[in-house]
Amino acid sequence: MSEQRQAAYAPPSRRPRGDGWCALVRRGARLGWFDASIAHSGEDVDARAQRWRACEPLVLRGAVAAGARAWRGEVGGTLALFERLRRGASFQDEVWRRLGAPRGSRFAPAGAACDLYDPREVEKVYAHALGSGGRALARDLYAKLAWIAHDERDASLRIRFSFGSESLLEWTKDPRRAVWSDRFASALFPETAAVLSQRALLARIERLAGRALRFSERIVYNNAPGGGAVFHHDAEPHQLGVLYSQLAGETAWIALSKRALAALVSAHARAAKPRSALAKRVATPARALRALEAEDDGELYRLLNEDAAFARTLVLAGHAFRLRAGDAVVLPSRGPDDTCWHSVFALGARPSLSHSYGIFARRRTRAESRGEPRRYDMAEAR
Ligand SMILES: [Fe+2]
Repeated sequence: MSEQRQAAYAPPSRRPRGDGWCALVRRGARLGWFDASIAHSGEDVDARAQRWRACEPLVLRGAVAAGARAWRGEVGGTLALFERLRRGASFQDEVWRRLGAPRGSRFAPAGAACDLYDPREVEKVYAHALGSGGRALARDLYAKLAWIAHDERDASLRIRFSFGSESLLEWTKDPRRAVWSDRFASALFPETAAVLSQRALLARIERLAGRALRFSERIVYNNAPGGGAVFHHDAEPHQLGVLYSQLAGETAWIALSKRALAALVSAHARAAKPRSALAKRVATPARALRALEAEDDGELYRLLNEDAAFARTLVLAGHAFRLRAGDAVVLPSRGPDDTCWHSVFALGARPSLSHSYGIFARRRTRAESRGEPRRYDMAEAR
């Protein structure tokens, strides 16, 4: 990409004229507007390897456009499914109807549950994968339906696929079972092929990672108008990043490496509120890096997610972009400090559809296998 125009921002109070302006609005927080017609640095083809290493987002325009077109019937079917779920349809009934089961499916019902301590969880449907003769090849795979936010203003839903006990991090320990969880997701949402049939896209990510990959821990997102996800990261044990594909509708993003975010948080807090307790906590980029891990820092949460002046800083630094149907973004991750932080805003008048897949090495090295898995703070809630 040769010359890039400078990022443009407008405050929440006035709607700018012209096409391409996107509102950064989420659950009542109005953070302003940015001009999405300006190319984002994450689109720079030549800079991809460098951005991967720096854990900056890679925006891949049209990377899944052919797939989204080819699978539009299934995409439409899934959007309709989410509408029924929002109106209270039984997730478990929908799952088994979709799979034509229990008879005729490679997956057998294994119960349903709801975690009463998680106010966002709606229903978790379990299945066993069956081999020939009905033998169970992988047990306790699940699809978990949950609200994205615990907020009545946000009707966004998502379905996460995984297996086993969440509290024991079983999903980090058994790559073979993960493959069956992936198959369960593909059986339930055939439009998975819209992403996984894009060989050029997958080969590109494998070149960046320098190894053969699998795309697991899949999530199907239905972001509803005015909703989205507050700033978080997706650093998880053994996860090299996330591939997020927009299959219908649009989302707006602010995404950047944790180190870049920490530097901006530190500079902004010191300049805007020099006497505040927050300015002291993030007095240097290194201290801001640590502060970002605190889940209970309300002042920092408000700066990241509800402060239009800080949103302006992020937009003008070139960290905002829009994904339209057919676009994808890769969010690289190597660990708790080297990971891409991101904030998502639903755009448009109707809920959208996107698929998010964790990027994992198909084979782990011995050292990786020995590493004791642990959850990292501020990771997206599972
Ligand atoms: Fe995320």
